[in-house]
Formats: sequence, structure tokens, C-alpha cells
Amino acid sequence: MSLSTIQQALQIRIDRKLECFIEQQTQAADQLIGAMKYSLFGGGKRIRPLLLSIVGNMLGADEDDLDVASMSVECIHAYSLIHDDLPAMDNDALRRGKPTSHIQYGEATAILAGDALQTLAFEIILNHPLSEKNDLKRIDMAKVIAKASGVNGMCAGQSIDLIATGNEISLEQLTQLHQLKTGALLIACVSLATILAPQISDEHTQLLQKYASNIGLAFQVQDDILDVVSDSETLGKPQGSDTALDKNTFVSHLGLEGSQKFLQKLHNEALQAIKDLPYNTEQLQAFTDYLVSRRY
Ligand code: IPE
Ligand code: IPE
Ligand code: MG
Ligand code: MG
Ligand code: MG
Repeated sequence: MSLSTIQQALQIRIDRKLECFIEQQTQAADQLIGAMKYSLFGGGKRIRPLLLSIVGNMLGADEDDLDVASMSVECIHAYSLIHDDLPAMDNDALRRGKPTSHIQYGEATAILAGDALQTLAFEIILNHPLSEKNDLKRIDMAKVIAKASGVNGMCAGQSIDLIATGNEISLEQLTQLHQLKTGALLIACVSLATILAPQISDEHTQLLQKYASNIGLAFQVQDDILDVVSDSETLGKPQGSDTALDKNTFVSHLGLEGSQKFLQKLHNEALQAIKDLPYNTEQLQAFTDYLVSRRY
């Protein structure tokens, strides 16, 4: 099966399951639920679920359980995007080809939708049915998601990003910023898949972590490159936003060519890390190639 066929099927499945879980929540706050759905079902690429599912399938994990972890991660991701676009942060008006949450619903509802999506992620991981064999793994999974999204992960990266905006930081600091704001959640996807795996050696877990750390950074390097070389219609978000805000990006530090070379290096190192795994890594290799060559 081709990667795009897997991606499309996964998109439909995750959407259906998320819709179903949200239907079970209180429907009292119509406006809030509307804003949450707007950002959850707004046409995201579902890259994190794709990674989680490919690694999990490769390791023989239960597909429905993997989907629960993916749903939780997508809630965190959707929340992070709503807040990232707010006037106090990147102040962007376009996301996935549509008005951003605060443009569509107003700032207050957008903030609340982000808050509620964040807690929904934990509702899902702690309450959604899981197979009996994995039921006791909820706590470990919740710990991974909390660590990757909060002060030890995404929020920390976002904070460093904002403070660094308009100031020159070192390449080392920029790398750390990107690893935290974007890499951490992608690394978490691999960790969640290994938690749900029936068994995996420490050595293979470490190789997958190394892989994840390389693609986590590569994903944001490509995001920085696309901000320069693409256009708003293709991206579905404002091209040139980083330059307009005077953000520290890999392109601002290494130039376009330097960033492309660095991306290639991360790509090679990621593939190198999974080369000797005793699993069928074909889909994971295809995913890795897609990640660094994606156009939006
Ligand atoms: C965008 O993530 C934000 C970054 C971390 C760079 P995606 O490119 O995965 O966003 P969607 O979900 O597909 O819109
Ligand atoms: C955001 O990075 C990463 C998040 C944690 C949401 P960017 O600010 O570069 O993401 P885009 O380009 O707006 O999607
Ligand atoms: Mg940002
Ligand atoms: Mg942004
Ligand atoms: Mg960006």
C-alpha cells in the first residue's frame, strides 16, 4: 500500500473516532465545541498519527490502541496550532487554507478551544477504551504526552521561540528551540508506539528514539524552508510569516542552501538509525522520504 493511501485511510479513521469521542462530551458549550472541531477537522496532514501508526504497526501493536494515542496527540497538536496563531504569538490569519481560529471565533473562544483540546487529549488517553492488555499502559502514555507538550517540550520551545524573536540566538539554541517546539511531540509519537508494542528491546527502542530525534528536527527545518520557498496557497498558511516576524529559523541562520544540506544530513541520519532494525522498515523509510520532501 502506498504511503498516501495509508495516510488517507488513517485521516478518515482518526476523524471518525475523534468525532465519536467528542459527541460523547457535554454539548452545552456549542461555541466551544464548534471551535474545537474547526481546528481538529480542518484538513491537517495527520503526520503524527501516521508516524505513530507506521512505527506501531511495524512493532506489531494493536491498531485500535495506536489510534487512541494518535487521537490524543492530534488534540495537543491542534491546540498548539490555535495558540501559535494567536495575535500574542505568531499573529497569523490563515491556517490550512482557512481563517485561523481567533479570526473565525474571536480570541477568547480560540484560547478556550486550545485549553479544552489540551485537556481532551488527557481525557482520551485516560478514558478511551483500550484493549485489556494495554489498559495499564495509560499512565505511561499520559506521562509521555504531558512531558512532550508542556514545560519540558512544546510549550518550552514556543516560549524560547517568542523570546528569541527579533534577537539573534546561537545555532545551538535554535536547534534546542526546534527540538522542543516541534521535535518533542514527534518523538512522543515514537515513544507511544513503543509503549504499545508487545515487546521491544532497549537497543531497538534507542535506535527508534535516535530516528525520531532526527526526523523531529528535520520536520521543523523543512517547515522553515517552506516558509521561504513556497506560497500561501500551497502551504494553506501565510508564506513569509517567519521573515515578517523576524524569527530565528534554520534559513535565517544557515541560508536556504545550508538548510537544505542540513535537512539532507538529518534525513540520512534518520535512515541510518533504522537501517539495522530487525523489522520491515519499508513504510517508515517511505514516511521519512515524504517528511523531508513534502511541499506543505
Ligand atoms: C505545523 O504542523 C506546525 C509545526 C509543528 C511546524 P503540521 O504541518 O503537521 O500541521 P498540519 O496538522 O498538517 O496542518
Ligand atoms: C510552531 O512552529 C510549532 C508549534 C508548536 C505549533 P511554527 O510557528 O513555525 O508553525 P507554523 O509555521 O505556524 O505552522
Ligand atoms: Mg510559531
Ligand atoms: Mg506559526
Ligand atoms: Mg513555521
